[in-house]
Amino acid sequence: MKRNIMVTGGAGFIGSHLVRLLVNKYPDYRIINVDKLTYAGNLANLKDIEDRPNYIFFKGDICDYDSMYNLMVEYVIDGIIHLAAESHVDRSIKDPFTFARTNVMGTLSLLQAARVYWESLPEKYEGKRFYHISTDEVYGALELSHPEGVEPPFKTVASSGEHHLAYGTDFFYETTKYNPHSPYSASKASSDHFVRAYHDTYGMPTIVTNCSNNYGPYQFPEKLIPLFINNIRQRKPLPVYGKGENVRDWLYVVDHACAIDMIFHNGKIAETYNIGGFNEWKNIDIIKVLIKTVDRLLGNPEGYSLDLITYVTDRAGHDLRYAIDSTKLQKELGWEPSLQFEEGIEKTVRWYLDNQEWIDNIISGDYEKYYKDMYENR
Ligand code: NAD
Ligand code: TYD
Repeated sequence: MKRNIMVTGGAGFIGSHLVRLLVNKYPDYRIINVDKLTYAGNLANLKDIEDRPNYIFFKGDICDYDSMYNLMVEYVIDGIIHLAAESHVDRSIKDPFTFARTNVMGTLSLLQAARVYWESLPEKYEGKRFYHISTDEVYGALELSHPEGVEPPFKTVASSGEHHLAYGTDFFYETTKYNPHSPYSASKASSDHFVRAYHDTYGMPTIVTNCSNNYGPYQFPEKLIPLFINNIRQRKPLPVYGKGENVRDWLYVVDHACAIDMIFHNGKIAETYNIGGFNEWKNIDIIKVLIKTVDRLLGNPEGYSLDLITYVTDRAGHDLRYAIDSTKLQKELGWEPSLQFEEGIEKTVRWYLDNQEWIDNIISGDYEKYYKDMYENR
């Protein structure tokens, strides 16, 4: 079957992995990547597939209703996978308005454009899908807790029957009440509500997924893992917020992209799926793994870069623990993460060390010149 799928935010971290997967896996589909190319969008992330006949790039702002509507009509869009967003919590603390504009108003403008276009067709919503990519951060923060007499991380059994290590007895489920704390998570929560409202009010076929922290190649080096790998390489301080005790649940980005592909094709309309690999880590422990791995790969003696750890003032409203229960997705659709964390981290560190130029271009700002030359001066 031929499909015309609009992916928003496809020049960003997760979006670029998703676009690559779809373009490679579905030669009969047309993948239209719509991205504003903010500081976080980088076309170098897609260099390997940019000339494929089933791939189209359109530089556009999701807040621009007319341009989104015209694009949907021009490319006969029947599926939308919406990732475009402002995504960094620290930036949202400094500049919440940009987050409300893109994440809330941008999502609303896409929803409305899709509604007006799809309702104008004879078959209306049949065969259509609006898939919104969200985050576990909308659920708020979990406590650190453990059964009496047991030291964390402790072994626990998920409702899927899978054994894993955890830092608390509670998890985020699809039924967990929204309780966002940062301007970023508040804006994502709001956009999730709009998506569900478009299903309930207009009958739009929507799906929402909430995923845990992603890591892997092509992540903008303001986020913990790429920032720290680069700082270790350059012998720069590693700014650990607070005591480094916060817990995050990490998933390799390609596993997220595979889950999105599976859910886009087989997920049930109006459902929510949590995506995560039951992989909780305290920040300070993950930082030590990064130090160990980078030092080993660079041929430094063990422990060489530990002196770079620098405890700094904590992030305002810093959520203590995120932990996703993805049993529903595993049971209903058979999704499983493909990589063990040790493997994923090794691959990731190697990628950043082998692709120094990619990171150096970002830090120098050269990547922005690259897309300006390609898309703005012609
Ligand atoms: P990112 O910041 O790396 O990429 C965002 C992309 O969106 C960039 O290419 C940017 O240019 C584009 N964009 C921003 N504003 C736009 C606008 N107004 N119009 C069009 N394009 C615009 O983000 P990411 O980490 O790849 O996250 C992608 C999505 O996944 C986001 O919706 C985020 O909330 C969600 N998510 C991220 C994580 C994570 O760990 N990174 C986890 C769960 C969910
Ligand atoms: P981040 O990668 O920004 O993702 P998120 O805030 O969406 O979880 O941060 C991951 C964790 O690392 C989070 O608890 C904040 C912490 N952190 C630091 O300690 N220092 C840093 O410089 C950064 C960017 C994050």
